[in-house]
Amino acid sequence: MIRRGEAPFFEPGLDKLVAETVASGALTATVDLHAAVNATDVTLIAVGTPDHDGHIDLSQITAASTGIGEALRSKTAYHVVAVKSTVVPGTTDGPVLRAVEKAAGKQLGSDIGLCMNPEFLREGTAIEDFMTPDRIVIGANDARSAAVFAKLYEKFDCPKVVVSLRNAEFTKYASNALLATLISYSNELAGLCEATPGADLETVMDGLHLDKRLSPVSAGQRIRPGILSYLRPSSGYGGSCLPKDVAALRAFARDKRVATPMLDAVAAVNDRRPDSVLDMAEARIGGFRGRKVGVRGTGLQVGNRRLALFARRDPCGTYLPTGWRSDRL
Ligand SMILES: NC(=O)c1ccc[n+]([C@@H]2O[C@H](COP(=O)([O-])OP(=O)(O)OC[C@H]3O[C@@H](n4cnc5c(N)ncnc54)[C@H](O)[C@@H]3O)[C@@H](O)[C@H]2O)c1
Repeated sequence: MIRRGEAPFFEPGLDKLVAETVASGALTATVDLHAAVNATDVTLIAVGTPDHDGHIDLSQITAASTGIGEALRSKTAYHVVAVKSTVVPGTTDGPVLRAVEKAAGKQLGSDIGLCMNPEFLREGTAIEDFMTPDRIVIGANDARSAAVFAKLYEKFDCPKVVVSLRNAEFTKYASNALLATLISYSNELAGLCEATPGADLETVMDGLHLDKRLSPVSAGQRIRPGILSYLRPSSGYGGSCLPKDVAALRAFARDKRVATPMLDAVAAVNDRRPDSVLDMAEARIGGFRGRKVGVRGTGLQVGNRRLALFARRDPCGTYLPTGWRSDRL
């Protein structure tokens, strides 16, 4: 599909972008990893890192790393292998590097460079997020690998932070864990407001958002940062990233015997929230039996997986997707 100039999934604006970029000759697709690695200077690993009992499942990452290493075996020129997938600290200079070096029969340094370049885009606004990033985080093993990435992103006009591989890995989790924390903080307060006659968290948050530290005033105009949309009552976070990233960070901490009482609470509040929302809806309409339930949100576009994730065991088989901020629903 990509070779024909078609986007293989829906994302606003992607059809046109893929068509134009393929027509210009700047983008092609192949399943021949050997040819791809030999014709390029950098390989970005952007495969899935799904949740497996809390930990991230690295099978796609190690398979991709081994494939790239095998392709590098016969390559004489310098090549940078970079991880774009969200992985816990120590993955890039651990399992990824080991798999690449073993399959390539070469060492990191003169033949191979190593980077970790976390991705911050959100599905639904992926193109805009990617094209106009807040920042680009480049985790690099050495100055030579970092220079290759600086060139790759030279046309992007935003702060570029060059850090260690592990700090780059951490930055992604720190960002997503903060977003999840704000959502659970809001939902914990929402539950309290719901139990308090006359209180309403939407109204409370309208007042809270006007704190100038949250919405500064510049040239007489109030700026309303996107972060405020995470400080609203909702049915909780869901989607493909926040639940698995919070779980992975907690599992990473458990492995290191570091307690994470705050992240544990973030997850616990989120787990309970869909039920509270369903309970409220049920109380208001007098039960779901025999009712048609409309579901708003892009959760539907990815099929049943995301809906099923939040399926409530309910005699009528009612599903409530969570995790979409109220402004996205
Ligand atoms: N989707 C997002 O909004 C988003 C945002 C930031 C970071 N991330 C991270 O990016 C990574 C990928 O996420 P996604 O949503 O694109 O996942 P995805 O599962 O939708 O896509 C991963 C793709 O990799 C392919 N793949 C697996 N193994 C491969 C291999 N050996 N060679 C070639 N292709 C292979 C799969 O077939 C699949 O098409 C994850 O680590 C995720 O956490 C995703």
